[in-house]
Amino acid sequence: MQDLSEQQVTEYLNLLKSEIDSRLDEYTQFGPDCPKTLSEPIRYSLLSRGKRIRPTMTLLACELSGGVRSKAMPAACAAEMIHTYSMIHDDLPAMDNDDLRRGQLTCHIQFDEASAILAGDALLAYAFEILARKLFPSGLAGECVAILAEASGPLQLVGGQADDMSWNAGGGTSLEFLESIHHRKTGMLILAGLRMGARIGGASETQKKMLEEYGNNYGLAFQITDDLLDWVGDEEMTGKRVHKDKSQGKLTFPTYLGLDESKKQAKERVEAACAALANFKTPHQLALQALVRLTRNLLERKK
Ligand code: IPE
Ligand code: IPE
Ligand code: MG
Ligand code: MG
Ligand code: MG
Repeated sequence: MQDLSEQQVTEYLNLLKSEIDSRLDEYTQFGPDCPKTLSEPIRYSLLSRGKRIRPTMTLLACELSGGVRSKAMPAACAAEMIHTYSMIHDDLPAMDNDDLRRGQLTCHIQFDEASAILAGDALLAYAFEILARKLFPSGLAGECVAILAEASGPLQLVGGQADDMSWNAGGGTSLEFLESIHHRKTGMLILAGLRMGARIGGASETQKKMLEEYGNNYGLAFQITDDLLDWVGDEEMTGKRVHKDKSQGKLTFPTYLGLDESKKQAKERVEAACAALANFKTPHQLALQALVRLTRNLLERKK
């Protein structure tokens, strides 16, 4: 792998994030036909300080596969809209009942519950409109709609959230079930971001397979480290409340395996994700190094 400077990788990742932020802003200039009581909570949550991991993955997968990232921008934004909707709903009193997200009050606290539910509903539908209308040709749009819908649906994100909500310590559990919740509620959307990017960039079968293996491991490492942050992170950095999972009786890696074993599992997943990229052939070395950087950074995650 040609070694590009750390600085170049940082600048490239910052550039991608700013491109994503400005396109999200552009897509949500709804105009006078959208009630302000809806557009305000949508923009409040969507344009806040998210890390933009999922859309960044979409753009990187596109470039890694030989495509130009501007083509993948609608899919990147759609993935972020689904993610933001899922966060707004995850924070509701009926779910995790949180009052802080991305360093600001959660949507239902800043506005009210009805507004938060509707903002989430609107983002969910709007993500698919963006895919259907902004991706060409229509066959490609249809494939991306299917990829994102599957990842957000009953067998994946929502199914994982349902098991996360209904689990209780009395029922017993297994590592397999814990991994399955994390894969469905979190991993699949990240994987969908990668899949859409790969499809738009014209990835070869070998590239697709490597990204699949990568995404499965990254997704799990991402949620394990999120669980760890609830134990050892701080509110200032994460922008959300900490020490909540245990008191709410959530099934998480540290609750199930303890801190040290969870850190070990995260490390193994990060290594496996990087190993999946070790022989990745791409014209875009910068994108490859950026993806490796994002993956290694999980182990030092503070937010
Ligand atoms: C938090 O996701 C919720 C999980 C699925 C673990 P992120 O850590 O990506 O949150 P933002 O988008 O940066 O706020
Ligand atoms: C959220 O998991 C997963 C989804 C909403 C899909 P968490 O409940 O652990 O996320 P945070 O910690 O509130 O960000
Ligand atoms: Mg939750
Ligand atoms: Mg939560
Ligand atoms: Mg969490």
